[in-house]
Amino acid sequence: MDGRATRVEAALGGPRGVHWFRAPGRVNLMGDHTDYNEGFVLPVAIDRDCLIGIRPRRDGRIVVRSLDLPPEEGVVVIAADGSDEPAGIEPFWGRYVAGVVRELARCGRPPVGADAALSSTVPRGSGLSSSAALEVACAVSLSELAGLVLPPTELAAACQRAEQAATGVPCGIMDQLVSLTGRAGAALLIDCRSLEGRPVPVPPRLAILAVHSGLPRALVDSAYAERRAACEAAAAQLGLRALRDASPSDVADDPFARHVVSESRRVLDTARAISAGNIEGLGRIFAASHASLRDDYQVSTPELDALVDALVEAGAVGARLTGAGFGGCVVALVRSDDVEEVTRHAVARYRVRTGLRPTPFLCRAVDGAGRPTIADRGAD
Ligand code: GLA
Repeated sequence: MDGRATRVEAALGGPRGVHWFRAPGRVNLMGDHTDYNEGFVLPVAIDRDCLIGIRPRRDGRIVVRSLDLPPEEGVVVIAADGSDEPAGIEPFWGRYVAGVVRELARCGRPPVGADAALSSTVPRGSGLSSSAALEVACAVSLSELAGLVLPPTELAAACQRAEQAATGVPCGIMDQLVSLTGRAGAALLIDCRSLEGRPVPVPPRLAILAVHSGLPRALVDSAYAERRAACEAAAAQLGLRALRDASPSDVADDPFARHVVSESRRVLDTARAISAGNIEGLGRIFAASHASLRDDYQVSTPELDALVDALVEAGAVGARLTGAGFGGCVVALVRSDDVEEVTRHAVARYRVRTGLRPTPFLCRAVDGAGRPTIADRGAD
């Protein structure tokens, strides 16, 4: 065993009594800004994860060490009874942990203390849900240690509330739910009203490529809250519980609501096109999604537009911004045989046009959170 697990084990002072868990990041193939409108999403749990080793501790404290940060920022100490207010915790990443501890306490977790160490391969601030991976890794390990058994949807909702408490952003449930329930080799078609998920196998001849734009996400927190409030107001105006229930004609004159309604339909269309191997169809749906996020929902940037164009011109089947927008990542579907060439050409074009340095992440769809295999533990 080498790599991350060795470092985690060393930070815990040896292997005795250590429980291991991993929780993946995600990339969303289709359906952005639909989850909090009770619509559909189609995310994939990816082969980048947060690995955590944990064992009980007797003094009612939860001490978590991150091996990805310098020692002075790398430790948080939180009361196991959930009495710490997440927004008051420093360093900042400890707010996610404190949020999880508080939400689990509210779900009935006994105040069992813990020593934990973790290390993540989900790049931070990239739009691949490093915070959801952190929350879910903490939630599954802390639950197990205290004998708390919750259905995945409840655990995901607890992690979602933890994220909201840590950041103040009224996020939806997609990231946490797919980190918990993703399926290897498949995207997960989630109905964000019932929270039911159905795996949609992605054929091996299609590769999933996330590309970070090199543009840090800006404005995303305030704009996210504004968009969500606008959607809720639009639903209320129509006398509906959520925009999920609106028809295209209900929202024809409202660009934000129009995006939500059309995007949610595109999720179902994408799932069908993937299952049918309809490559041309996928290209059209991805193009329509990006245009809708850019023009109707107004969460794109010129750089994200340039990256989507560069990928399509380089031969991707389809490309669109993914996640909240305002920077971060785009996602592309690429014929597996073409991945290297498409990546090389798209990166070169984008660099020339924007002067930014993009980072490609070829993603494999993996299972949601659970116990790591030996290979998972060794992976750096
Ligand atoms: C962020 C949120 C999710 C979702 C996406 C946009 O990732 O955490 O809940 O709303 O943005 O689809």
